[in-house]
This record gives sequence, C-alpha cells and structure tokens, in this order.
Amino acid sequence: MKVLALIGSPRRGGNTDLLVDQVLEGSRTKGHVARKLYLYDYTISVCSDCRGCKKGDYVCCVHDEMQQLYPLMADADVIVFGTPVYWYGPTAKMKMLLDRLRPFVENKKLVGKRAVVVLPSAEGSKACGPLIEMFRLSFEYLGMELVGKVLGKAYEKGEILENKKELDAAYKMGALL
Ligand SMILES: Cc1cc2nc3c(=O)[nH]c(=O)nc-3n(C[C@H](O)[C@H](O)[C@H](O)COP(=O)(O)O)c2cc1C
Repeated sequence: MKVLALIGSPRRGGNTDLLVDQVLEGSRTKGHVARKLYLYDYTISVCSDCRGCKKGDYVCCVHDEMQQLYPLMADADVIVFGTPVYWYGPTAKMKMLLDRLRPFVENKKLVGKRAVVVLPSAEGSKACGPLIEMFRLSFEYLGMELVGKVLGKAYEKGEILENKKELDAAYKMGALL
C-alpha cells in the first residue's frame, strides 16, 4: 500500500512533522511504502472558482506546483493530512491545498481512499473538534474515509517529543493502516 503524507506546517521538524513521522514509521513496519511532502515546498495558488474542473477532463486549469501533487494523491492508498491547529482550523497552506481538491469531486480519483489527520495544537484535543469535522465532511464529499486521528498537545517546536504516549499512539495508528 502507498501512504502519502502532506505536511501543512511551516516548521520542518515541528510537532506535525514529528507525529507524521511516527505514523509513517509504523506503516513501514507493515511493508507499506510511505512518502512525506512539505506543502511549503510547493507553490499552491488559490482556487479561483473558474469551474474549469467541472468540464472536459475534470482537471484544474491553474498551472502551478499543485499539478505535481494531483497524480501523487491519485496514486496513494492512504493520505495523511498533517496540519497544526491555527485558529481552530488548518494552516492557510493546507487550506489552499484543500480548496484545490475540487477536481477530485468530479474525476472521483480519491474515491475509496483512506485518510488520516494529524493535528497538533497548544490546547490539545479540545481545540480540534471543528477542524476534525471540516476534514471529515470534506473527505465524505470526496468519497474518502477518515480512518485515523492523531491530536497531540504541544506548542513549542519539537515539544511533542516529551509526550511519549502521543508518539506511541501515532506509531500504532500507522501500524494499523
Ligand atoms: C497562527 C497560529 C495560530 C494558532 N492557533 C491555535 C489554536 O487556535 N489553538 C491551539 O490550540 N493552538 C494554536 N496554535 C498553536 C499551534 O497549533 C502549535 O504550536 C502546534 O504545535 C504547531 O505545530 P508545528 O510545530 O507542527 O508547526 C496556533 C499557532 C499559530 C502560529
């Protein structure tokens, strides 16, 4: 199985990154092929609601680096969406990616895939409700299934390393994929 992780935090080596690493390490113990990408390495423009993706080949007309991510997402069996909680939502970069998933509503290339969300935050799980619901409803719309959640409580960069319980839970989730 192919596992693709998308990191929506601007901090490399931050809490999202570290928790996602655990999920991927766990998945590798079951022989899955896991790959991690940093969204901040990609130029992703806003969705302009041109509706081009609703016609013809159902592809996005915006020619930016999102075009590299579409085939990778279509090829994955499991997609891990990692974003810190920013104002009870995702980071702007992750939101820009989500907005650009609209072609998948039409071409249905994500139907049947599984999704995991990794959402560290300063406040912990009590801050994550709206964001989990946003992801869950969006996945449902895309025909995907939310199969796992990792909600680490951490604020400073790398602070999650002090929380062995959360790291272990993330690793175990990866191994269960
Ligand atoms: C702009 C901004 C908004 C944030 N909003 C929230 C929030 O609404 N609730 C919360 O619990 N933490 C919030 N945080 C804290 C981050 O979620 C937390 O520091 C997280 O561990 C960062 O993950 P990272 O190391 O992967 O970037 C915010 C941080 C920033 C920079």
